[in-house]
Amino acid sequence: MTARGATLAAGTTADLSAASGLPLDTFRPDHVADRIERALAAEGVGGPGALADRLRVDGAARERFRRAVAVSHSGFFRDPEQFVALEDRILPRLLEHVERPRVWSAGCANGLELWSLAVVLSRLGVLQRSRLLGSDLLEENLVVARAGVYEVVEITSALRWQAHWERRDLVSGPPPAGRWDLVLCRNVAIYLTSAAKARLHGVLAAALAPGGVLVLGRTERLSDPDVLGLRCTERHVYERPR
Ligand SMILES: C[S@@+](CC[C@H](N)C(=O)[O-])C[C@H]1O[C@@H](n2cnc3c(N)ncnc32)[C@H](O)[C@@H]1O
Repeated sequence: MTARGATLAAGTTADLSAASGLPLDTFRPDHVADRIERALAAEGVGGPGALADRLRVDGAARERFRRAVAVSHSGFFRDPEQFVALEDRILPRLLEHVERPRVWSAGCANGLELWSLAVVLSRLGVLQRSRLLGSDLLEENLVVARAGVYEVVEITSALRWQAHWERRDLVSGPPPAGRWDLVLCRNVAIYLTSAAKARLHGVLAAALAPGGVLVLGRTERLSDPDVLGLRCTERHVYERPR
């Protein structure tokens, strides 16, 4: 039986979670089944048990599987209309009452989301006094983010020094210390179960400073912003009232 479309046995999920070091039960079962099926083909193994055995002994295969399940891709100015909104409306409004903006890219993958935000902050003349944080589930993504070397762009060492990076599981662990004026969490919750998504959204909302803004991906929304103490200011954008 293929993994896709099948209900994965709890034992299979637990075995692959242990072998990969990923909390597979927080990701949507259909997404996990799809990634297992692709991994079976890519690694040339016969079933989930054999895949788990492979992941335990083959570090490269383990990293491929982890990055595939966590969907570790991003892009420079990905979904550019959201960066236009940030530059034209969201940040200018925020900067009316925030002197030193604290911005957090939650689920930052390879870091390009935070670096794109840094460009916008620079254009607005506030980069030098901003605090920049990127966090992700996977340490291997943060290694790429910290290095700041991409095909499309290379980040200057001055900017690299300014950004901070933390490994964080935002479904089962705490948020970073402090309150944040701007949080981007785009294309992270779409791969999660509804319970994990609710937990993630609760963590993000609680981390917002008064007047702080949460930006979700362009296909995402909060199911009940009121319950989280937030109000929707435009599509995919939520604010904690001051
Ligand atoms: C598709 S990428 C999104 C990257 C970026 N936000 C963007 O939209 O371009 C999803 C990222 O979420 C991270 N992620 C998944 N589950 C997570 C969790 N429980 N806590 C923190 N990050 C998580 C993955 O490791 C991955 O890097």
